Amino acid sequence: MINLDRRELFASLGGLAAVALMSHDARADALEHYMEDKLHAQADGDDEGGGSAGEFPSAAQVKDQITTRHYRRGVGGLFISTDPAGKMKMLPDMPAKPTLVDFFETRFGQFSNHCLQSANKARERGQPDEIVLACLLHDTVQSLMRVDHGYYGAQMYEPYVPEITSWAIRYHQPLRFFADEAAGYSYPDLYRRMYGYDYVPAPHVQAAHEMTKKHKWYYAAREVTVSDLYAFDPNAKVSLDSFRDLIAKHFKQPAEGLGYDNSPSAHMWRSLMFPDSPL
Ligand SMILES: [Fe+2]
Ligand SMILES: [Fe+2]
Repeated sequence: MINLDRRELFASLGGLAAVALMSHDARADALEHYMEDKLHAQADGDDEGGGSAGEFPSAAQVKDQITTRHYRRGVGGLFISTDPAGKMKMLPDMPAKPTLVDFFETRFGQFSNHCLQSANKARERGQPDEIVLACLLHDTVQSLMRVDHGYYGAQMYEPYVPEITSWAIRYHQPLRFFADEAAGYSYPDLYRRMYGYDYVPAPHVQAAHEMTKKHKWYYAAREVTVSDLYAFDPNAKVSLDSFRDLIAKHFKQPAEGLGYDNSPSAHMWRSLMFPDSPL
């Protein structure tokens, strides 16, 4: 059972005054996201009963949680409700020629704001457009698939973005598991919670880390991890509007619309477009 803490909820939305300015729909959405976050935290053993702050499960304990869930953690966020009593919502139809912005607005769900915050941070850190774009897109594919999301994301975006951008999206995934203090990246507590304090990355993840360390674009993937957010930031609400120019300049929008251009990843866009299709 999730306890609704009104003070915490209001604080997460920027205070009472900010809540008063929100539309009814926006408040309903915010409440849903808050509950979703709490549910994810609970599912990850981070809520009441999951131990106090600073205590993390072991990898073996994380494994034992598998049979307590009614879903698998690697599945795309658009396709499940982590609330055992949850029901799906109707999704808005997409336009005949969908754009990246349409996907941000109707399909990327909770990953949209996370990525906007991350891109905003990269921009504030003075990163070039290609890296800011990588941050803007880095976790959006988690709507479709969470497991191996760096690789799925890179594949989905490869036909449409600069090569360094998709490279950074792909390799931010293995690099998250390895600290690089000089670059400003410490191993996040979030992963101790999600994977267990004694988790050891798989050999292929370690190999990817070794490879990227020697690569000329290491800094690009590393920057995605540095500009990532590993805790919920209640004060950061970033609008997609400030990235429209960046998208127009660097994202090759197909004339037929995403999903209809026969690119190698068109089917991935269609799966996001029609997630209720049974086959
Ligand atoms: Fe990620
Ligand atoms: Fe992220």
